Amino acid sequence: MNYPICVFKLTDGTYSALLMDCTHNGCELQNQGNYLICPCHGSEFSNKGVVQNPPAESNLISYTITTDNENIFINL
Ligand code: FES
Repeated sequence: MNYPICVFKLTDGTYSALLMDCTHNGCELQNQGNYLICPCHGSEFSNKGVVQNPPAESNLISYTITTDNENIFINL
């Protein structure tokens, strides 16, 4: 993969796994606490990968996560 995956623990105890590939023009996103921001043109994405601020118009690629008592598995 050409981009890292960011894993967030959500308030309901579930997780999200998001490809850090900005859907505007492919810059690698940066983590800003509970959301992701693009250093190129300022797009922002929620911890569920939903666009919060343009110019990006599409949500991030996300992966399903499963867990057991000790592990988090990202289903690629
Ligand atoms: S590449 Fe991310 S906002 Fe343009």
